[in-house]
Formats: sequence, C-alpha cells, structure tokens
Amino acid sequence: MTKLAIMGAMEEEIEPLLAHFENVQVVEFAKNTYYEVQYNGLDMVIAYSKIGKVFASLTAATLIEKFGCDTLLFSGVAGGINPDLKIGDLIIANKLCQHDLDITAFGHPNGYVPGGAVFVETSKELNTIAKEVAIENNLKVIEGTIATGDQFVHSNERKAFIETTFQADALEMEGASVAVVCDALNVPCFILRAISDTADMDAGFDFDEFLKSSAKNSAEYLIKIIDKLKK
Ligand code: ADE
Repeated sequence: MTKLAIMGAMEEEIEPLLAHFENVQVVEFAKNTYYEVQYNGLDMVIAYSKIGKVFASLTAATLIEKFGCDTLLFSGVAGGINPDLKIGDLIIANKLCQHDLDITAFGHPNGYVPGGAVFVETSKELNTIAKEVAIENNLKVIEGTIATGDQFVHSNERKAFIETTFQADALEMEGASVAVVCDALNVPCFILRAISDTADMDAGFDFDEFLKSSAKNSAEYLIKIIDKLKK
C-alpha cells in the first residue's frame, strides 16, 4: 500500500477526517475538491463525492486513476435495516448491491445487468484488519450486506423490498458504485458506515438529527483503522 484514497459522500462525512489530519493540500479537479495529506509518511487523498452513485463513481475513479491511490476506504452514514443496527452503530460491508438497478422486464434478477453481478465484494484483508481494530478498541461492528441506490429511503415498503430482495443489513447511496469501480480497477475497497436512521418514515428527521454524530463515529473508527494500516 502506497497511497490511500479516503472518501465520503457528504462534507459532514469527511469533515472529522480533515479536522484530524494536518498539512492538507487542496487540489481542484473535475468540479470537486481533493485534499492531499501526508500522515506520518503515509500518502492519502481525501474527498467527498457529493451524494449518489454517479458522483461517487466519478470520485472513486479519479482518486485511483488521476491521484494514483491503490487502496480505497469509504466512511459515512447509512440507513439501518438489520434490527441489531441502532442509530450510531457501525457496519462494514462484505458485499454490496445496487437495489435500484432494474431490468427485471427482461427476466434478469434485481440488481443485475449483463456483464455485471448482483453483488460486488470488498477486501477481505481490509475487513479483517477493521475487525481486529474493533476488538482492540471494544467497538461493536457488524459485517454484512449493504444495498446502494439513488434514493433516500424513507418508507417501510421500500425498506422491506430491499431487505427481502437482497438480504441487506443497511442501505445508502454510494457504496456499491465505489466497490464496482474498485473491483474493475483492481483496488482493495473498504466500505464503512454508521447508522443515521432506519430508513422508515422517520428517516428524514433522524438523518438530520444524527448525520453529524454518526459520521463522526464512522470517521473515528476509520482513523483507528488507518493507524493500524500505517504500522
Ligand atoms: N444514508 C443514510 N440514511 C439513508 C437512507 N435512509 N436512505 C439512503 N441513504 C441513506
């Protein structure tokens, strides 16, 4: 590992990371801002993509192809599906899917298009390191399936569809697209989220209430993981 890409979707998701690291160099590219950091000899580039799969794909591909990052770590918030996930709790994805990708009209399963796969996996090595860090720091972390789509989910019907179709534990709006980019470009990928809401009718209210605190939970855990990677 020589250069780390660190991504969020929203400013609130990377703000605790930028606050932690010193000597940040700002680079503007493709209508986005990239923050280059040297952290005790480790090169990193931090960016938030803006919300959704398209912006997230652009940022992930840029971090890898333009900035030369060879490992990608994502930190942010998600809506919880698994009832064991309460607001503030942490989940790392072992696989992700696109819940809104739908050519079922042609007999394909939800989330599938020819040439792709319903699920894309993340790096087992990075997840193992993350789980070690969780144990060392007494943090409760669930490893599971994250479903991604270009929708803020705030209904029990949509949530139930995503749960029954993909057995997803949490949902958000970027992870699967980032994992697809990393898989295609052969870059180890790590997707971490902290729960901000439970994707039900209260989700909009809860998200506004808990975005910052949950984003901070995720970022603080990510920093501990980065510290471990550095060793
Ligand atoms: N990220 C956090 N909460 C979410 C929700 N309910 N839907 C989509 N993305 C989210």
